[in-house]
Amino acid sequence: MTLPDPRDPRTSPAANVLISRGVPAPGIPRERPRRLRSFPALRALVRETRIDPAQLILPVFVREDIDRPHPIEAMPGVVQHTLDSLRATAAECAQAGVGGIDLFGVPAARDEAGSGAWDPEGILNRGIAAVREEVGDSLVVCADTCLDEFTSHGHCGLLDDTGRVDNDATLPLYQAMAVTQAEAGAHMVSPSGMMDGQVEAIRSALDATGHADVAILAYSAKYASAYFGPFRDAVGSTLRGDRTTYQQDPANRREGLREVLLDITQGADIVMVKPAGPYLDVVADVAVRSNLPVAAYQVSGEFSMVEAAAHRGWIDRDRVIRESITGIVRAGANLVLTYWALEVAQTMGNRA
Ligand code: PBG
Repeated sequence: MTLPDPRDPRTSPAANVLISRGVPAPGIPRERPRRLRSFPALRALVRETRIDPAQLILPVFVREDIDRPHPIEAMPGVVQHTLDSLRATAAECAQAGVGGIDLFGVPAARDEAGSGAWDPEGILNRGIAAVREEVGDSLVVCADTCLDEFTSHGHCGLLDDTGRVDNDATLPLYQAMAVTQAEAGAHMVSPSGMMDGQVEAIRSALDATGHADVAILAYSAKYASAYFGPFRDAVGSTLRGDRTTYQQDPANRREGLREVLLDITQGADIVMVKPAGPYLDVVADVAVRSNLPVAAYQVSGEFSMVEAAAHRGWIDRDRVIRESITGIVRAGANLVLTYWALEVAQTMGNRA
């Protein structure tokens, strides 16, 4: 179909403006980026970023005192698992080609020091053992190495007399936790507490106990983010106050890189930025400067906002999920932790 002459007042609504103002005819574009957008196969051919299920990690919650999976209100579709439902989910992940699974524990009882965290019979360690038994090496089994789910006060470390999180007193507890996670069968431990020196402390503990092959996925640049809100519901967090004395100020970009470079020197195997979507500048900085794989964690708030808007019909859920993960990978993340990992692997495959 040929379009009408834009300067013919009988057919063109813009003709009067063009003629009366003497607007010159536009030049003919030499560069036509649209050429490569003409049809799906061509778009796929030149696509720069694809999502591969093998680069996704599914975070999962395993809870101690339940006999059936318990829905998490603030995270529609996500549950606190029993050991059995955890096994089943891990098997599904392996089947669907998801790269890994990251376990968080929800214990029945908590204390000041978070001692359930390094109890070999604690819920998290039992979960790790169950998953390893189920999937072997077909899935990378990763564990959260942080005390907050296990402490009565909900903080990521031990509190001193003034109620402040004591960095150096916390490090041995992370060491104990990491060692028992390795004994339970974790391929990878993931310190997320943002204590200074945590990666080095854990590396030395693992090496000294015969776990030199257990990798460290370091939560390196972790921000004191309001996007963690729904996660607190997911783990039944008892935290009052916030984590601003250990997690980073959301305003700080350079500091994210500093934390990453420190973790690299301390022996991290993979460095992570968290949250992901609101921190893509940090992901991009890290992607340029890191000689290690870069992970990004699309956190609970990023998940729940999309689910809530989609539930109301305000956005196209599937497209936003794909676009949000694509954006994280495009920024430079090699791995993405996302609550949609299994669904993406099962339903979207490689359609980036
Ligand atoms: C703390 C931890 C948190 C998350 C992962 N590990 C919560 C926090 O730091 O307050 C948040 C994950 C999410 O929001 O999805 N160990």
